[in-house]
Amino acid sequence: MCGIVGYIGKQSAVPILINGLKRLEYRGYDSAGIAVLKDSKIKVIKRAGKVVDLENLVALNNLDSSIGIGHTRWATHGEPNDVNAHPHLDQTASLALIHNGIIDNYSVIRKKLEAQGYRFQSETDTESLVQLISAFMEITHDFVKAVQLALSEVDGTYGLVVINKEQPDMLVAARLGSPLVIGVGDDEYFVASDASAIVGHTRQVVYLDEGEIAIITRGGYEIKTIANEPVTRQVEQITFDLEQIEKGGYDHFMLKEIFNQPQTILDSMRGRLLPDKGSARLGGLREVVHILNNANRIIITACGTSWHAGLVGEYMLEHYARIPVEVEYASEFRYRNPIITENDVIIAISQSGETADTLAALREAKNRGATVIGICNVVGSTIARETHAGVFIHAGPEIGVASTKAFTSQLVVLSLITLMLARNRGFLSREDGEKVVKEMLALPDKVQEILQLADEIERIADEFKDCDNALYLGRTYQFPVALEGALKLKEISYIHAEGYPAAEMKHGPIALIDKNMPVVVIAPQNGIHEKVVSNIQEVLARKGRVIAVCNHQDPIIHELAETCINIPRTMDFLSPILSIIPLQLLAYYIAVKRGCNVDQPRNLAKSVTVE
Ligand code: G6P
Repeated sequence: MCGIVGYIGKQSAVPILINGLKRLEYRGYDSAGIAVLKDSKIKVIKRAGKVVDLENLVALNNLDSSIGIGHTRWATHGEPNDVNAHPHLDQTASLALIHNGIIDNYSVIRKKLEAQGYRFQSETDTESLVQLISAFMEITHDFVKAVQLALSEVDGTYGLVVINKEQPDMLVAARLGSPLVIGVGDDEYFVASDASAIVGHTRQVVYLDEGEIAIITRGGYEIKTIANEPVTRQVEQITFDLEQIEKGGYDHFMLKEIFNQPQTILDSMRGRLLPDKGSARLGGLREVVHILNNANRIIITACGTSWHAGLVGEYMLEHYARIPVEVEYASEFRYRNPIITENDVIIAISQSGETADTLAALREAKNRGATVIGICNVVGSTIARETHAGVFIHAGPEIGVASTKAFTSQLVVLSLITLMLARNRGFLSREDGEKVVKEMLALPDKVQEILQLADEIERIADEFKDCDNALYLGRTYQFPVALEGALKLKEISYIHAEGYPAAEMKHGPIALIDKNMPVVVIAPQNGIHEKVVSNIQEVLARKGRVIAVCNHQDPIIHELAETCINIPRTMDFLSPILSIIPLQLLAYYIAVKRGCNVDQPRNLAKSVTVE
């Protein structure tokens, strides 16, 4: 989604802004722009398309300045064209604003200002805000006050930065519902919607909280609330390195992240397993573990891939810890007046920790008295800060829009929670717990073994790359894997793909099966294997082409399927951590062979900060 970067200091702002925008490209966007203050004027350059196009345009202009703002826009209000791109100017061209989020009451503001003679250029909600600030400037003649007054009139969400040609030594930034971080350098300051935009310049950061405004000058910064109360905030350290957000020799971030999984899976369980006790310890849950042990019900809420991880979590937790679990799309949960009691525990799963719907769902649950736990990747993210307790998955920055390593790490953390609760609640013996610990520790090597099949999976991709549709089938723990495998394929290759519970296929998707339909069946040897074999027979009877993800020694599936991808065996509840790996690779190679932009698929965003 939209990205923000701002700079004030001693250096030339433009290269910092352009490089920052390049670091934010992974979030997904469709236009980009910058504004700098030069010769007492605001110079804006913006256009639809990629940051590299903007960079070429910027190079034709002399924009030397030590203060500026840059933005990547993911269109909501108004199509992605040059005019709608940010920054937006007020009608006197005195102010320039970049904005993430949505101003819900923008049309009321716009009509009111138009009635007063204000002229608008774009179709965006953002332009209403910059014009409103301008209108307050006319009254107060105080830049910061005008921003505060305007923000107290808007409904909606924002992460924003505004510059004023009359005050060439000041950036004003504010946040409500859309993250912002200030980078503290040596007599220079950065603002960004995501720390990855500035980590190359400084590791010292200050996170703005909801409803706060930062006044950043060349000599320092001051944080207040929108209502003008002073705020003191600690400087924090960014926890990742620059090399973690670079491709490191891989063709794409997605491939790097798939291949990093033996390490990231290990990182997610590091220091958390208790081999002697056959259990797990999660420091972030220490304060709430007694609540979890006695919970009446767990509700897992999330979006996208994280929601699929939640479904696996439901199977795990109900099976081993014997706690009733519901899994809800955050976007549905927040609006459907759910029944929540104080004895319910809500687990919000989010890689980014910024997904607007997940955040709103957890706030809803919190308001109704439930205990809210986060499973997040990004340290310092809003969800991580707003939950009562939580567990970081420690997968490192995930740059590819299609989530891969975060998914397997989310599953590891859900396995750890399951193990801990199953042991605490007396549903798993110590001996059985020890077996789980042993098996979890064996996962990184097993994932490594699957990654060695990459060439073979690339050949399979070649065979199926021209299909128009694909069906993914699985049962019990493999059903969410089928959903996730299908999601990976459609996200990055634009092939229509559906995941289904294998038996449910008979109630609809079977009508689609013919000799052209690839059907990916996830069929490890488990208690329900025979039933899955029957489902494969049903596909074959309609001449569907079966690609099976199965175990090495499985003569039945090997006999039936056109293509087999062999994965090692593990415990049933851990098996999704292995079976998703070949599906990630299959989607990746198919997308590459179709010439798709794997890391930045069309229309998608890495972190969906609007509802
Ligand atoms: C977007 C991303 C997905 C992600 C989903 C939820 O749709 O493209 O990869 O699974 O958001 O994101 P979260 O950060 O909350 O896990």
